[in-house]
Amino acid sequence: METPPICNYEGSDYQQSFWDQSDRAYEDAVEAVALRRLLPAGGKRLLELGAGAGRNTPRYTGFEQVVLVDYSRTQLQQARSRLGAGPQYRYVVADIYHLPFVPGVFDAATMIRTLHHMAEPRRALDQVRAALQAKAVFILEFANKRNLKSILRFVLHQQTWNPFSPEPVEFAALNFDFHPATVRTWLRLARFTVQRQLTVSHFRIPFLKRTLPLRWLVAMDSFAQTTGNLWQLSPSVFVRCQAAGETAAAPEGWLFACPACAAPLDDTPPRLVCQQCGRSYPVEDDIYDFRLEA
Ligand SMILES: C[S@@+](CC[C@H](N)C(=O)[O-])C[C@H]1O[C@@H](n2cnc3c(N)ncnc32)[C@H](O)[C@@H]1O
Ligand SMILES: [Zn+2]
Repeated sequence: METPPICNYEGSDYQQSFWDQSDRAYEDAVEAVALRRLLPAGGKRLLELGAGAGRNTPRYTGFEQVVLVDYSRTQLQQARSRLGAGPQYRYVVADIYHLPFVPGVFDAATMIRTLHHMAEPRRALDQVRAALQAKAVFILEFANKRNLKSILRFVLHQQTWNPFSPEPVEFAALNFDFHPATVRTWLRLARFTVQRQLTVSHFRIPFLKRTLPLRWLVAMDSFAQTTGNLWQLSPSVFVRCQAAGETAAAPEGWLFACPACAAPLDDTPPRLVCQQCGRSYPVEDDIYDFRLEA
């Protein structure tokens, strides 16, 4: 099966330009609130998909290990500089469409600001589900096409695409907004049960961000988030799901599997070699590289 196109962040200064040097303290703070509300108290191993430079990783307290996955090696290098090396973090360069893990090795996963780069979200969600144990928690954030701003623009004929229609809208190359009902359907088909939805970033409006104190905006958004099960009209939605159905128990002691042929891989840095298909995967500066077309 052909691999879907990947939004390439290699060499990008995303963390600096988007978060550190731009006025996004509000967005960051309200995401922290949503994560606090949705995260389980702790667990063994959490999979962070599209981890980028590890902006959210310190929020996953209570887990013995966090495995950061990103397709960009330079993003993970930044994450490693920020978080350090150590047994509690694993840095894994891999494609979400070809995850390099044995089935059922994670008891939690998050995917924040990443689904919006997926041209084939169903396929990505199937991969996530396969890596999770039964009853594992999965927190998914997605960009909502049916938000108040897009509705207004549509009504005023400033936007051609319909925010109420179920299909994704690709507003820039490999940047998609999704309809909340469509995402819920995909989650169900991928064997997830939706437990709770939070709507996030209601006040992502430059004028409000300029004029109101940050703590007011965060307090207002924290309150508005709690209506997320009733309606979803904010630009960002967080969904807490549980892995439904059964998953084959992870074979004891294994974490990695060959992303090409799925055979379990011995964890033998500086190179992991697949005994089944012969491919090998380098480990450099604590960063595992499972890209199939590196
Ligand atoms: C907008 S950034 C979000 C980073 C982080 N989650 C945050 O919220 O700060 C999206 C990340 O998804 C990663 N990404 C995009 N497509 C991917 C894929 N197919 N497999 C793995 N990572 C991918 C990018 O490299 C990028 O680091
Ligand atoms: Zn193999």
